[in-house]
Amino acid sequence: MRGIERQTSIYLGGVSGTRPRVPVAFDALEETAREAMSPEGFAYVAAGAGGERTVAANRAAFDRWRIVPRMLRDVSERDLSVELFGRRLPTPFLLAPIGVLELAHPEADLAVARAARAEGIPMIFSNQASTPMERVAEALDETPRWFQLYWSRSNEVVESFVARAEACGCSAIVVTLDTTILGWRPRDLDPAYLPFLRGKGIAQYTSDPVFQRLVSEDADDGEPDDDTPEPRPSLAALRTLINLTRAYPEDFWTTLRSGRGRAAVQRFVNSYSRPSLTWEDLPFLRERTRLPILLKGLLHPDDARRAVDAGMDGIVVSNHGGRQVDGAIATLDALPGVLEAVAGRVPVLLDSGIRGGSDAFKALSLGAAAVLLGRPYVYGLGIAGAQGVREVIQNFVADFDLTMGLAGCRSVDEVAAEALVRA
Ligand SMILES: Cc1cc2nc3c(=O)[nH]c(=O)nc-3n(C[C@H](O)[C@H](O)[C@H](O)COP(=O)(O)O)c2cc1C
Repeated sequence: MRGIERQTSIYLGGVSGTRPRVPVAFDALEETAREAMSPEGFAYVAAGAGGERTVAANRAAFDRWRIVPRMLRDVSERDLSVELFGRRLPTPFLLAPIGVLELAHPEADLAVARAARAEGIPMIFSNQASTPMERVAEALDETPRWFQLYWSRSNEVVESFVARAEACGCSAIVVTLDTTILGWRPRDLDPAYLPFLRGKGIAQYTSDPVFQRLVSEDADDGEPDDDTPEPRPSLAALRTLINLTRAYPEDFWTTLRSGRGRAAVQRFVNSYSRPSLTWEDLPFLRERTRLPILLKGLLHPDDARRAVDAGMDGIVVSNHGGRQVDGAIATLDALPGVLEAVAGRVPVLLDSGIRGGSDAFKALSLGAAAVLLGRPYVYGLGIAGAQGVREVIQNFVADFDLTMGLAGCRSVDEVAAEALVRA
């Protein structure tokens, strides 16, 4: 649905007394999601690192550019499509990989997939998803999907994840590099809440044959030690144990008795990220897949240059929505340097702080090939499940479409640097 249709449907709803259930303005969207979600679930999504200065910087960077609209250019027909890796996409929006979506809604990744399918927007599966990729792929039908990888300490697990991603139709692998260590997030530290320790957001692992084998080997080694007498569990600990068990795709009671849920979490904690990762590791992945590989989280021009030299096929300029390094460079500020270093050899995408159509317009004007939606769609999910995600996507596409037309552009190709001035 394009801008005018979306506007009209909202205003017509008003005539018969209905208002959008999913607020259009970002602040109201966030506030409504806060009310709909559990306090720790909302905090996990909203959190930034440290004093959240990177979260603020991402927004401030957009505000430092102004659009200069052009007139009298017949913008009655507008083409929002972009081409990425030989495939034409209907709009320049993709859904960013977001882990632990069950914190927002019980239907989690499946609801997002249904929305992506209905709106024709590509979905990037998170390594920390709440639902195994194969099930989400099924729900997507023909909709494009990519897989986001966190490089595990076990190369066998990496291989297995990539092979599964290929088998379920993913058309690119996105390696996220900015989270080999978890950032310092006061909003999660104060309530002492990390979802993974409660068995949430580890479905790609618990559904993985290689990971399952490693858990069994741990059990054979007596790791973790299930014979140690347990202290009497508190109610909260019991709830956690039950959640852990549910993360494991076996009969609930069998898992509870065998302690595999806890063993899986233990194995996950021991192996999920690899801070020792270097450029020398990239050939391992390059040799194992013919899919395009994008590196997500690059901000320095030298890293971008090196990525292209290493045979990578794309870059996502991202600071993880300000969740990793407090006081980091805003992505829109990093974009020009990265683009210059890459010199058109591979597409450069951007995320972190996209809150409306004009943000996407600015990123594309400066040279981004496409943008990733992050927190806004999670908030839509929290408020109204799949329908909420659909509405958020529709609003972004509508806003972008209208901004493009009002700025005097008929297609994304015409969205170029001339459209912007420094504030
Ligand atoms: C709750 C949450 C979970 C996330 N999980 C992942 C993840 O599993 N993998 C990943 O590459 N990025 C993850 N990200 C980062 C997003 O992909 C994206 O970079 C970020 O949300 C963009 O910032 P924005 O939401 O402020 O627009 C996550 C972000 C949030 C808010």
